[in-house]
Amino acid sequence: NEGSLWGGRFAGGPSPALEALSRSTHFDWRLAPYDLDGSRAHARVLRGAGLLTDSELDGLLAGLDELHELFASGELRPRPQDEDVHGALEGALLEVVGPELGGRLRAGRSRNDQIATLFKVFLRDHARVIAGLLLDLVEADADQAERHLGAIMPGRTHLQHAQPVLLSHHLLAHAWPLLRDVARLRDWDARVAAESPYGSGALAGSSLGLDPEAVARDLGFTGSVANSIDGTAARDFVAELAFVLAMVGVDVSRQAEEVILWATREFGFVTLDDGYSTGSSIMPQKKNPDVAELARGKAGRLVGNLAGLLATLKALPLAYNRDLQEDKEPVFDSVDTLEVLLPAFTGQVATLRFHTERMADLAPQGFSLATDVAEWLVREGVPFREAHEVSGACVRRCEELGVDLPDLTDDQFAELDPRLTPGVREVLTVEGSVASRDSRGGTAPARVAEQLAELRTVVAEH
Ligand code: ARG
Repeated sequence: NEGSLWGGRFAGGPSPALEALSRSTHFDWRLAPYDLDGSRAHARVLRGAGLLTDSELDGLLAGLDELHELFASGELRPRPQDEDVHGALEGALLEVVGPELGGRLRAGRSRNDQIATLFKVFLRDHARVIAGLLLDLVEADADQAERHLGAIMPGRTHLQHAQPVLLSHHLLAHAWPLLRDVARLRDWDARVAAESPYGSGALAGSSLGLDPEAVARDLGFTGSVANSIDGTAARDFVAELAFVLAMVGVDVSRQAEEVILWATREFGFVTLDDGYSTGSSIMPQKKNPDVAELARGKAGRLVGNLAGLLATLKALPLAYNRDLQEDKEPVFDSVDTLEVLLPAFTGQVATLRFHTERMADLAPQGFSLATDVAEWLVREGVPFREAHEVSGACVRRCEELGVDLPDLTDDQFAELDPRLTPGVREVLTVEGSVASRDSRGGTAPARVAEQLAELRTVVAEH
């Protein structure tokens, strides 16, 4: 049973079919540098417990450093008989420092506490990268908002014209959820950092006088787990991150869908930059929004990764079960997906060219100023229920005449309701309409400028 982590109680080696099923090195090898860091910390804690001499510790650390270099240069690869990254690295360590010294490192630890710990460290590194990429996207939205601060567009509900809003207001409405995703990543990070599982052993802790708090600090955690069974069995940290990453995908997909719609001939709101659009192999005229479509598509994949993980965890008895090996590929896929998607999506947003005249032309169409008429009547002392009816009657009249609200004459307004004096015209422009929505968070230019400043402050705090 050459190179295996067990053997004593086995008369024969594993069947090739079991080996093929069991092997995880094709996806967990990327954890090797994290496993080596964990091993260094573990070696120091063994020294602290008097289980290694100073020279043995030095020998092990030198061996681990050598493995790190061999990994980095690509010379170190798992062998076909290695089950997982932990076994492969132990095998390699035995070759580098000899079986006598190398065989000491495994004391007081199990692959169960090892994997739980190093998976956390790996995911923390990637969560930080993704938080940075998200902030880049937030800034791209904010920069576009700043560039088009006063531009007016049709605001929609149910995809129908609703009320005019500022384009900048709309763009910032995509930025805020992304900023909350960044905050979710930070919260998750702090929770994960507080609980290093190292020292939990297979499930029950260790009898060797090791100090889990010392390993925890060594590996950049702020503390160690209070319960060794929980430490080895819990994977809520994986599921929670998969949720946040799925949420990022969903948030990005909502802007992606709008980019796709806005780039259609029918909308004509944006032109995509050549660097962020694709052509057709047959139709020479085509310019396709593939970046946004891939964003929309990959959101489904991120949601699937979360759903798959939760299904794996459901009803798993404590403590470690081999099912838990299935926790890695979905979340590896989620981090890899976002690390390629976000830079492309940010580039697309940053280079969008907006057709603000077209947006402004469309903004008053579809009777989007009807609420303004009703609210003007309310300010004139009319109860809103009645004002709503009167404004609705104006819309009906316009439809009969084939005109829009601002086209009605003073006489036509007065016929509809004597309280509709010419003063109503002050709200019958899109500029007047947006300027009047000046409550906190509203679309008035002054409020949106404040909102942009507020967003920039939150970004700067991250
Ligand atoms: N490779 C395993 C995993 O990813 C860790 C090893 C634990 N295996 C075991 N038989 N106890 O979860």
